[in-house]
Amino acid sequence: MPLTRLAYASEATFAPKPVEQGVEPHVARILMASRRNNGKCDLVGGLYYGDNRFFQYLEGEEEDVRKTYERIKQDSRHRTIVKLMDEPLEARTFSNWSMKYVPLSTDVRRFLASHNLDSFNPASFTSGQCEEMIGLVRSASQNQKSVNPNDRNAPKQKAQAYSWKLRMGLLAAAACLLGALIYAGTML
Ligand SMILES: Cc1cc2nc3c(=O)[nH]c(=O)nc-3n(C[C@H](O)[C@H](O)[C@H](O)COP(=O)(O)O)c2cc1C
Repeated sequence: MPLTRLAYASEATFAPKPVEQGVEPHVARILMASRRNNGKCDLVGGLYYGDNRFFQYLEGEEEDVRKTYERIKQDSRHRTIVKLMDEPLEARTFSNWSMKYVPLSTDVRRFLASHNLDSFNPASFTSGQCEEMIGLVRSASQNQKSVNPNDRNAPKQKAQAYSWKLRMGLLAAAACLLGALIYAGTML
């Protein structure tokens, strides 16, 4: 089956809910469906969401890419969908990501600044800028860099759990030592 790659830009129709950490709830639901469906047919790619706009890159077997794109186009959570790229692909360029989520991260901000762009408006990206964006998703997925602030907190939470266990252990050891000393005192 021939492979293809496709990228588009769109505008979100929902009012973003303020989130201090984690993924915006509408986007989180989109990601859940994407990962569930794309995984089944080996579709890979990345989804950027920022300034209430989307940029999505899809690659996989042509039929799957087309079917998925047709379904995505019907989704009322976005509008003004502009196809930026649609071309055959010789070999897959992503290894194992069903849908990598990338928020408006430092990398993307740096990319926008390098092109003197003051907001994230992927509909006006040139093909070169489109390639750069795809490169950012690829490197984010290759580095297994976490883009979900919940994940980013995970090591911190683990460390906190360990230090709590360590404290309890030390406390128990101190209690045992104290008990032993008192017992030894009664033997004198
Ligand atoms: C910006 C955007 C990107 C989406 N990307 C995907 C995708 O990559 N794969 C997918 O299956 N659905 C995607 N969806 C969701 C689909 O439009 C649709 O809701 C979903 O595929 C329905 O899946 P379900 O029948 O399993 O609930 C996207 C929706 C939006 C708004």
